[in-house]
Amino acid sequence: MELFSDPYLEQAIGGTPLVQLKNLPSPSSGQVWVKVESGNPTGSYKDRMAYCVVKNAFARGDLKPGDRMVEYTGGSTGTALAHVAARCEIKFIAVSSDAFAQSKLDAMRAYGAEVIIIPSEERKITPELIAAMKQRAYEIAEEPNTFYADQFGSPDVIGGYVPVGKEIADQIGSDVDVFCAAVGTGGAFTGTTKGLNQAGQAPELIALEPLQSPFLTTGQGGAHRIEGIGLGFAPPFLNLDRCDEIRAIDENEAFQMCKKLAVEEGIFCGPSTGLNVTAALEIASERGPDSVTVTLGCDHGSKYNY
Ligand SMILES: Cc1ncc(COP(=O)(O)O)c(C=O)c1O
Repeated sequence: MELFSDPYLEQAIGGTPLVQLKNLPSPSSGQVWVKVESGNPTGSYKDRMAYCVVKNAFARGDLKPGDRMVEYTGGSTGTALAHVAARCEIKFIAVSSDAFAQSKLDAMRAYGAEVIIIPSEERKITPELIAAMKQRAYEIAEEPNTFYADQFGSPDVIGGYVPVGKEIADQIGSDVDVFCAAVGTGGAFTGTTKGLNQAGQAPELIALEPLQSPFLTTGQGGAHRIEGIGLGFAPPFLNLDRCDEIRAIDENEAFQMCKKLAVEEGIFCGPSTGLNVTAALEIASERGPDSVTVTLGCDHGSKYNY
């Protein structure tokens, strides 16, 4: 079996900074730490998962140079897959939509991906749109020599994020009381938790979703504007029984938080990070000064038009 391993990708992906927020937490609140993942090569933590999925597909013989790979994606996963595909001589087909940031669609094309656009209604991310994208990707995956990356089912997704938890445990130098993060597939949340646990950390786990698409808290998804999360169906990699709490956060607060984070902490991130930090600050304020809350900075703010 050929194990695809790329020296550049090995060095470029991961090893990101863990940053303690200094200005946004109130004086009476606990510590808030953000694992800032925007330094990965395509600007998001999806690089970790894309490399892990492709590497293991090569190892199993599911992929070989010259093959095609397909995925339906809002663009973060797609950009990460397109980047890895360009490194290992496979063609990547992304099924996406005009509901997602133009910069992500452009980035996928820049890495040589074919991008198929499923039109949205008023640029809203809805459960119907996601279903239509999925259907098209499934059709393409039936064609010969085409590997379905399967960001919603591949066993290699979680493995890609285990190092996030291990890095946090190495970097923080104390116990983590709470880990909170928004969920799309749930891969980053579950993989990071696994890494934290493997490193001897056992934080309280709080999964987050947009208030405008409160599937986990109410059973009903809805239209919202936070890319990558709140998909309107059960996140395949999230075990709800292992979560201590699910919290829904207003997307408007998340967008405002992106601006505050950039201005007051110098961390320019996307809206899912704004949502994560809104929740982390809320939790740290509830838990008080001795608490340590960690969350994820999923991607870079320059991907979005605020
Ligand atoms: C920007 C962004 N934030 C958060 C998420 C959620 O990550 P996960 O699918 O691992 O739950 C995604 C997933 O696509 C994303 O693109």
